[in-house]
Amino acid sequence: MFKIRNAKMDDLQDVVDIENLCFIKTEAATKEAFIKRIQYTPDSFFVAEDENGKIVGIVNGPVIENEFITDDLFSESKENPKLGGHQSVLGLAVTPQYQKRGISSMLLTHLENEAKAKNRKTVTLTCKENFVPFYEKMGYMNRGLSESGHGGVTWYNMTKKL
Ligand SMILES: CC(C)(COP(=O)(O)OP(=O)(O)OC[C@H]1O[C@@H](n2cnc3c(N)ncnc32)[C@H](O)[C@@H]1OP(=O)(O)O)[C@@H](O)C(=O)NCCC(=O)NCCS
Repeated sequence: MFKIRNAKMDDLQDVVDIENLCFIKTEAATKEAFIKRIQYTPDSFFVAEDENGKIVGIVNGPVIENEFITDDLFSESKENPKLGGHQSVLGLAVTPQYQKRGISSMLLTHLENEAKAKNRKTVTLTCKENFVPFYEKMGYMNRGLSESGHGGVTWYNMTKKL
């Protein structure tokens, strides 16, 4: 069984390890970025743990004013507003050996429910073209090309109304 909980600073190295297993270097968030995200936005940073307390998945992103993600969010962090705004997802990753067991769905659903409880308007994220169907299956709408140049590739804006 897997449990979803908020991230804490003790999780830092595990979180960095999962990110680097799942994303190439130009797309992976850095340790410095994760320190800031755990410090400022632990309320919208979740980890999935197995029955032994091993972290096997992460989802994180700040609450933002705009409906779509901008590149500055990848390096800068500030506290989330108590209520309202849009919940972004900057990263969703599951350790390769634990993929295809529904862990990413559990993480996203948890993030969405927490965001809904705080009156956030949407969940907003960017993904590459091959992941558009993955997020559509989870109820996200393809809103077209993003302005983001993160990692030097083309991204699509995907949003879900809460
Ligand atoms: C994408 C990722 C988070 C999925 O995690 P996961 O825990 O294996 O996902 P789930 O088990 O919850 O799968 C949910 C559904 O999505 C499907 N799916 C998984 N990866 C997919 C992909 N690359 N493309 C399309 N569908 C995919 C699964 O088959 C499953 O569908 P089903 O329930 O009908 O069988 C994981 O593969 C990962 O960390 N990849 C590397 C990092 C990454 O690319 N992150 C997201 C990109 S923005």
